[in-house]
Amino acid sequence: MRVLSGIQPTGRFHWGNYFGAIRQYIDLQHGNESYYFIANLHALTTVRDKKQLEQNTLDAALDLLALGLQPETATLFVQSDVPEVSELCWILMTGTPMGLLEKCHAFKDKKERGLTADAGLFTYPVLMAADILIYDADIVPVGHDQIQHIEVCRDLAGSFNFHFKQEVFVLPKSKILETSAKVPGLDGEKMSKSYSNTIEIFEPVAAMRKKVMRIKTDLRPMEEPKDPAGDHLFDLYRLFATADEIAAMDALYRRGGFGYGDVKKALAEAAERYFAPARAKREELAADLPKVRDILADGARRARKKASETLRRAKDACGLG
Ligand code: TYM
Repeated sequence: MRVLSGIQPTGRFHWGNYFGAIRQYIDLQHGNESYYFIANLHALTTVRDKKQLEQNTLDAALDLLALGLQPETATLFVQSDVPEVSELCWILMTGTPMGLLEKCHAFKDKKERGLTADAGLFTYPVLMAADILIYDADIVPVGHDQIQHIEVCRDLAGSFNFHFKQEVFVLPKSKILETSAKVPGLDGEKMSKSYSNTIEIFEPVAAMRKKVMRIKTDLRPMEEPKDPAGDHLFDLYRLFATADEIAAMDALYRRGGFGYGDVKKALAEAAERYFAPARAKREELAADLPKVRDILADGARRARKKASETLRRAKDACGLG
């Protein structure tokens, strides 16, 4: 199988990014041909500062490598290092109905809030489709919020193939982890940079603990038994804890007589333990930035090779050969 996914360098990655997407990248790099990229062209729609975007891009590479992406096994690269994708984006855009993009949630949400969107945000799903199609991806591991975009991608690929009467593009499938497709944030809503409710993966430990203590909980008295289902604090704990720890916490919830503060402490400890090896690895990598840049350059070379073959196929099919 060919696996592909992208992640935007709009800030530091958070628990939602990790459990919804990055953990899948790491698992799927084994036994598949995999491509993972840092979506800096997409991020340019929101990060409008040269230094910031450059720094975020490098941080993104360090984070992904520290979390377990193996550059010998997976191809890791920066989106803008493969200019072929922008050319394919244009080709796809010529056959994209406006109505399809008007339905996409990022644009719709902005419009509903009375804000004006720019063309970058409006056509964002087409660039994402080009990202996926140019690597002939079969599987796209993502969180729940990206499913709609992958449906758009399938639509565009299908109608291109139909119109030009050739199987130019592979129709990809999204892959989500049911248990962590929508990781909640501090307020119980989906964890997202745009809601300011995130906990970053590599947040300093003291800051991480403080944030965990701020997680919103209900005001029921301590003695009352509680239902673990639908409790977002418990849902977060579940991501980090072992099976035995989860069973013990489940029993504690049902019995009652505990404080949410205790659960938060247990969550902070489990999270600290969980990311400790990656934290150490990140420090090592940060001490050798030339090596990280080499990894990205090598990834871009490999990605371009595949991308240019697909672009050629697409151009031939529509008369741009
Ligand atoms: P981005 O950068 O917003 O998010 C990266 C990945 O993290 C997942 N995610 C979550 N999963 C579970 N719970 C959450 N709270 C949570 N928050 C974020 C996202 O679903 C995503 O998988 N458009 C994409 C980037 C992109 C892309 C692509 C992805 C560009 N081209 C091609 C796949 C294929 C985005 O903005 O992701």
